[in-house]
Amino acid sequence: MGKAIFIRKAAQLVTLRGSSGAPLVKEGMSELGIIENGSVWIENGMIQAVGKDEVLFEKFAGQIHQADVVDATGKLVTPGLVDPHTHLVFAGSREDEFNMRLKGAAYMEIMNAGGGIHATTRRTKQAAPEELFQESYTRLNQFLLHGVTTVEAKSGYGMEWKTERKQLEVAKQLNEQHPIEVVSTFMGAHAVPIEYKNNPEGFVKIIVEEMIPKAAELKLAEFNDVFCEQGVFTPEQARTILEAGKVYGLIPKLHADEIEPYEGAELAAEVGAISADHLLKASEKGLKAMAKKGVVGVLLPGTAYFLMAESANGRKMVDLGVPVAVSTDCNPGSSPTVSLPFIMNLACLKMGLTPAEVITSATINAAHAIGRGQEIGSLEVGKKGDVTIFNVENYMKLQYSYGMNHTDTVVKSGKVVVKGGRLVEELSLS
Ligand code: NIG
Ligand code: FE
Repeated sequence: MGKAIFIRKAAQLVTLRGSSGAPLVKEGMSELGIIENGSVWIENGMIQAVGKDEVLFEKFAGQIHQADVVDATGKLVTPGLVDPHTHLVFAGSREDEFNMRLKGAAYMEIMNAGGGIHATTRRTKQAAPEELFQESYTRLNQFLLHGVTTVEAKSGYGMEWKTERKQLEVAKQLNEQHPIEVVSTFMGAHAVPIEYKNNPEGFVKIIVEEMIPKAAELKLAEFNDVFCEQGVFTPEQARTILEAGKVYGLIPKLHADEIEPYEGAELAAEVGAISADHLLKASEKGLKAMAKKGVVGVLLPGTAYFLMAESANGRKMVDLGVPVAVSTDCNPGSSPTVSLPFIMNLACLKMGLTPAEVITSATINAAHAIGRGQEIGSLEVGKKGDVTIFNVENYMKLQYSYGMNHTDTVVKSGKVVVKGGRLVEELSLS
């Protein structure tokens, strides 16, 4: 076992204690459990003690000389950030479409003309697994440099089993080889393939009868996601796909009400989804149903920003009692970024959340959105030793001072992986 790590004297240690049982809602989202002059002792990959520095110093007096001591004086210490919605594994980029959109083309228009998700699918199909691994590993390094220690990753740039499987296998390999934990979601229903344009039901049948059983049998995914949107998958088709996944133990997630209102939030509550994501056009009825069922609303303010759309009403969701999380939605078409801290700034400015609510959204509530609320997302004894240290004195400044990377140190499962804002050497694959 490696050395113990003793993080000492944080100006603010954001613990989010007591939040492992269920995601935080309403006023609870502002209860950060801050300890000033706070310290954390990590050993065997796990958090062994959290508290005032004086107390921990006394408790571990006999062992300090054997530990790696990290001085966090004047800094902010939070749980490692959690990104609960990414399309991590893909090939290529789409700056050409960015240019087209700036000239007035709409996102869906580009997709319907065979670009968009279809363009990335063509690139991803062609890429060798090693190339996909390399590109995605580099992205994961960038996530880590921004303080993120866990990401969810969706397939969906295959739309046929061979490529979906390739993406899921690369995600699995990344989870094994990169320090970041990668949590996999099957998303065969990301778009209707062009050849099924006039027969979408035929494609739904393939997802339900072939892809879902295989993904589950090979244990390549925990979750099952559908892009439920006008012109993509209808709520009825989404219901069929999500219910089929449940039979195989895949937990439903949903891209819901992003571009047009489509009763996606209602459907997420009905099928017992763990999260419904996007929600720009979600109805009040749907949001209330989500609140009642405890479905996490994953907000993606970077996507609205990048698509020049009006953001989801995060303020209203929190006030209605929806447990809210935030995420980058990292993907080449609608959110080509890994900067969760930048997204956190947008969640304040574009969605009306407070900095405290946003910290909760990027840690414990994000962990609950991917079924990891018991293991990560807060600094508590018995949780994984996932900790991020930022070069700011308090949590509000992290969101206030935007567009810069304040990450100083990242500890993942009890190992220092970022030091002084740089990757420790062995991670620099490329
Ligand atoms: O979450 N909305 C659908 N899927 C992705 C975009 C994927 C892409 O454009 O490549 C999203 O925004
Ligand atoms: Fe997405």
